[in-house]
Amino acid sequence: MASLTAALQSSVGRKILTGITGIFLVIFLVVHLAGNLTLFAPDQGESFNLYAQFLHDLGPLLWIAEIILVVLFLLHAYIGISIYLRRKKARPENYHLYKSQGGPSKQNFASKSMAVTGVVLLIFVVLHILHFKYQAFSPETYYTTINGEEVKDLTRHVVEAFQNIWVVLAYTFVMLMVGVHLKHGVWSAFISLGAGNPKKTAVLYTIGTIVAVLLSLGFLFIPIYIYLNGGV
Ligand code: HEM
Repeated sequence: MASLTAALQSSVGRKILTGITGIFLVIFLVVHLAGNLTLFAPDQGESFNLYAQFLHDLGPLLWIAEIILVVLFLLHAYIGISIYLRRKKARPENYHLYKSQGGPSKQNFASKSMAVTGVVLLIFVVLHILHFKYQAFSPETYYTTINGEEVKDLTRHVVEAFQNIWVVLAYTFVMLMVGVHLKHGVWSAFISLGAGNPKKTAVLYTIGTIVAVLLSLGFLFIPIYIYLNGGV
């Protein structure tokens, strides 16, 4: 705990913590996208429901994973916002005007909008969990029977949600924000964790961009496909 407090107080420590928490959040996104893509297995969403049920059946293990995820999210958001506020305080007049240094600093729209895209994602995640995990915006929770066992019909919830053009547009916007945030975030995490020397910078930037594009397009595919096809 003392070392966490010390890390939070030094600017290098804060960068390293944002990098580490960010990398774990990206791993979560990769696993989450892989799970979500089971929606498109040729069994009308049965695999997706089974996958969700498998996770729920993990019981206390799932709670521990969820608590770790919440801590990672909050820590990442807290440090990210505090880095942004400190930087803004250090150059109050024309923070928004500062120009790209080129080379390793890689300043661009993605890097300058990290705080904004990060806050959008934070708000999204709260609404998204209420939406799909707790079905807060559905009139009822649907169930289905698979192999004689009653399980939550998450496929039906997801398909129903993405029949609404406004939900699809909102998800499209947020999935693009995921891409913009990760485009700078993944690269920045590598650099903060000491992976960057001038030779590797371009390679790491390309890797960050590829990860961002694949995750963003992968998530984007789901609402758009379901809306256009009326189902999975
Ligand atoms: C089209 C894209 C997405 C779909 C269809 C989707 C679907 C779902 C569903 C159905 C659940 C509930 C799972 C359950 O109750 O077992 C869920 C949970 C969750 N999703 Fe997504 N998701 C999408 C994108 C995202 C994105 C981009 C993020 C993060 C930026 C995200 C973060 C989460 C989190 C944190 C949970 C809670 C996990 C847990 O508590 O176990 N999702 N998602």
